[in-house]
Amino acid sequence: MTNNYMYFIANWKMHGNIADINKTSSVTKLSRLKKFKKHKIIYCPPYTLLKNFYNKVKNSNLSIGAQNCHSNSDYGAFTGSVNAKLIKSTGAKYIILGHSENRNNGETDLTINKKIKAALKENLKIIFCVGEQLSEKRKNNTHKVLKKQLTLGLKNIKKFNNIIIAYEPVWSIGTGVLPKNLELSKNVNSIKKILTKSKKSKNIKILYGGSVNPKNAKELSKIKEISGFLIGGSSLNSKKFIDIIKKSTN
Ligand code: PGA
Repeated sequence: MTNNYMYFIANWKMHGNIADINKTSSVTKLSRLKKFKKHKIIYCPPYTLLKNFYNKVKNSNLSIGAQNCHSNSDYGAFTGSVNAKLIKSTGAKYIILGHSENRNNGETDLTINKKIKAALKENLKIIFCVGEQLSEKRKNNTHKVLKKQLTLGLKNIKKFNNIIIAYEPVWSIGTGVLPKNLELSKNVNSIKKILTKSKKSKNIKILYGGSVNPKNAKELSKIKEISGFLIGGSSLNSKKFIDIIKKSTN
């Protein structure tokens, strides 16, 4: 932990309905306890649930975020798309951008850069995902990949107070396979160095994502360079999500 609070970001991906929102009451309760108040607990459900989720948590310490947006900052003829303005209007405060599941669907660094700019314009806080594929790791190209993703994704962006980086090795997402703590520290430090060298903020927060669960949370939270977690599968179950929060903050 790099400071006295941690981020716990639930990425629900393409899951969830109203009944599932109601099942998160135990997390709302936890967020109100003195011990957990300082941490940032954020739910990122599908677009369809943003407003309902916001209404449920607006008087608590939880926040809401989206999982993506269209790169166009203005309204327009983009059937099926949702932009940052529409997201902001739901009460959401955060947005995940550059997730590997979208990169794998053809999203480029250039598009991600446009999306980040559009979301910053709406004052949304960005959770910017970067990470290498298994083949890239095997070729020892992790640093190179991270550098490209960070440099192009953050091109021409001057202010970083609304940007958080989520380091997610693609081979670790949904697989149960995690990098060793040493490898993880090394890659997070790589990210820090790249950001400092390119004159981006060196105080930027870096989270880890990829198969975080109640069993590995304690060990992962010992890595001092990491300020929290982006959690997929385990965040769908409130008990597991709470376990992760408790184990990482003890
Ligand atoms: P996972 O997903 O926790 O299910 O591995 C993490 C993510 O994709 O953000």
